[in-house]
Amino acid sequence: MSVISGKKILLGVTAGIAAYKTAFLVRLFIKAGAQVKVVMTPAAKEFVTPLTLSTLSKNEVISSFTKEEDHSNQWNNHVELGLWADLMLIAPATANTLSKMAKGHSDNFLLATYLSSKCPVYFAPAMDLDMYRHPSTRENFDILTSFGNTMIPATSGELASGLSGEGRMAEPEDILKFIEDHIAESLPLRNKKVLITAGPTYEAIDPVRFIGNHSSGKMGFELAAAARSLGAEVILISGPTHLQNPNEEINLIRVQSAVDMFEAATKFFPEVDIAIASAAVSDYRPKLSATQKIKKSAETMMLELVKNPDILASLGEAKKHQILVGFALETENEEENAAGKLQRKNLDFIVLNSLNDSGAGFKSETNKIKILFKDGKTKGFQIKSKTEVAGDILNEIILLSNE
Ligand code: PMT
Repeated sequence: MSVISGKKILLGVTAGIAAYKTAFLVRLFIKAGAQVKVVMTPAAKEFVTPLTLSTLSKNEVISSFTKEEDHSNQWNNHVELGLWADLMLIAPATANTLSKMAKGHSDNFLLATYLSSKCPVYFAPAMDLDMYRHPSTRENFDILTSFGNTMIPATSGELASGLSGEGRMAEPEDILKFIEDHIAESLPLRNKKVLITAGPTYEAIDPVRFIGNHSSGKMGFELAAAARSLGAEVILISGPTHLQNPNEEINLIRVQSAVDMFEAATKFFPEVDIAIASAAVSDYRPKLSATQKIKKSAETMMLELVKNPDILASLGEAKKHQILVGFALETENEEENAAGKLQRKNLDFIVLNSLNDSGAGFKSETNKIKILFKDGKTKGFQIKSKTEVAGDILNEIILLSNE
């Protein structure tokens, strides 16, 4: 999955012959899972039609401050659009537009949107070789990069003028790769390996029955997806769940029982930097698991249970350089019990969720957590979607790893 998947990309198209390539660019962004909106300078419409770009992006293309087509005097909101974007790309970026961007002009909708945006901005120059080489153009590149914008350098080749040299806009595939690599380089968990346990465990009584619990795996899968999108290599060890792997780049290992989960987790733990145990592991399993379905006979039946290995406690004992995070699902004396687990299992922090809070714990789309750190500090959070909760937990891990 591309790092731009889910990102909102604002593409600014200016009046250069390379504008025809933006149709391919929009398609590549959409294929990579991004949402795309396009703004154009009025002159750019001579090079590629708004109809082409709106059809490909599935969004209205804007090139003026008012909605010109229906003469409704309605205003196109450049501020809203600038704030909507996770990243803005100006491609092709002509010498004229680059010069205006460097000086802060805003005499068209694209420039006003650029000035209003707060997101990272990339620009892909396209112009004739002498214009590209001109000291004023070079100065504008420097000014724009000094503002924090990122230049995607032009390449050499045949130019619209018939001359050959530097000034061709980078090819759409190369622009996509440039942006993906640039984003990946700045992700806070790049070069980190993260192990996550998720879901319930099933402890077989016989071939058709088991001891299990209500965990859906959602919390753990959200943690895995968030860790991956922050650049980590992720190993997700999950008990039985109907959830699909959220990202094909996540190494998803499906297991059944606590013993299976223990074996997988202890195998991978030495090679990871961070481990998060969100699985609801059964503390006990039947001493014997019948090979055939147990037949109904007596009025009562005794099931002898034996203790399962405590996966997290074992990781805590083996811990060297790793950041180790556990969960505590409590129904009473919540903080006291969670603090006990934090200490006994040698964790860096523990995420407490209580079944006494509505919308917290098993199955739901939301969770309400409190984090207890090993130095005694605590941090409470509002009820949020499990996606946001996963983000909060990983933020705390990133802060710890930067200490
Ligand atoms: O899957 P969802 O429906 O989204 O629900 C999410 C969740 C409620 C399961 C999750 O948020 C959660 O609280 N997970 C931990 C549940 C649990 O078993 O808590 P515990 O307090 O019993 O265990 C403490 C910690 O030790 C946990 O990190 C657990 O993974 C770990 N443990 C427990 C027992 C065991 N034998 N081995 C373990 O590793």
